[in-house]
Amino acid sequence: MICLGIESTAHTFGAGIVDSEGKVLANVIRSFSTEEGGMIPVKVAEHHIKVVDEAIMTALDDAKVALKDIDLVSFSQGPGMGHCLRIGAMAARSLAVLHGKPLVGVNHCIAHLEIGGAVTQAKDPVLLYASGANTQIIAYDGGRYRIFGETLDMGVGNFLDSFARHVGLGFPGGPKVAALAEKGEKLIPLPYVVKGMDVSFGGILTNIKQKHDSGRFGLEDLCYSVQETVFAMLTEVAERAMAHCGKDELVLGGGVACNNRLKEMARIMCEDRGARCFVPENRLLVDNAAMIAWLGIVEHQAGVSTNVAEASIRPYERTDDVEVTWR
Ligand code: ATP
Ligand code: FE2
Repeated sequence: MICLGIESTAHTFGAGIVDSEGKVLANVIRSFSTEEGGMIPVKVAEHHIKVVDEAIMTALDDAKVALKDIDLVSFSQGPGMGHCLRIGAMAARSLAVLHGKPLVGVNHCIAHLEIGGAVTQAKDPVLLYASGANTQIIAYDGGRYRIFGETLDMGVGNFLDSFARHVGLGFPGGPKVAALAEKGEKLIPLPYVVKGMDVSFGGILTNIKQKHDSGRFGLEDLCYSVQETVFAMLTEVAERAMAHCGKDELVLGGGVACNNRLKEMARIMCEDRGARCFVPENRLLVDNAAMIAWLGIVEHQAGVSTNVAEASIRPYERTDDVEVTWR
């Protein structure tokens, strides 16, 4: 069985094709970016509309299949930005109806987790999901993926992007902050905000903007310090979730997990407690449709299907809203 997945929750429009063994046959990623300023939802949606056809055709070409060979269509139903989600949902519904294929709408956050199971040896991991809009520590327990800890305000990626935008680095800011951080040497004390199992970035953002604007600190040192601080916060709550759940596997997901320093901290933490750390390749960490296609297959095989009439978007769907019937 092969599935065509479509992703459009935020800045990325993706078309991915995966088979039932978890083999990624195509993973086309078309991302909106700017040199200066952030992302405006209407502009991002315009970007997605422009790339829809090309992304899907390229995915079919890459996988060397035709639409008639596709057995299943899946798409990100939520959570995400309404403007963007609508484009992917429309494309998926149209393909399913026109070509008579079954349709499965999936949860984007759970897709980040499940793809880890397909491409690594993780069996029952804790997921540290660190992306733009989301920052959650997730693990399976009693029929659902539960959120053991999360951000109380913005996602860690949006936090890095906001800081980068403030200092004139453009979007996405995470990779730019990462490059400058490598040249930083001095650890500047910043607020460290872990509340129970949750984290918060708003106060750190205000503080680091003030430090930057004071002109008393070098940008490279600020980038270095911000990474050391917020990644330590994430590693701390991930470790506590592993201890609490008695799980000895960690999977990283989300675009911020592309960061080498975060990967390093996660690996050291796992080594220290005799656990295993799994990091899928970067193209499967960022928003992508291969993970959407894979979750489509997993759910379809468990008997899940989405009626076209009920395939509306779910911008606010939470990870633990979804009943997990496929485990
Ligand atoms: P979601 O919809 O799941 O919240 P998202 O739409 O923000 O995710 P992702 O592709 O998962 O998309 O993540 C994008 C984020 O990852 C951006 O905030 C970007 O700055 C950040 N990012 C990408 N590469 C790096 C890196 N090397 N270091 C730090 N952050 C990074
Ligand atoms: Fe994502």
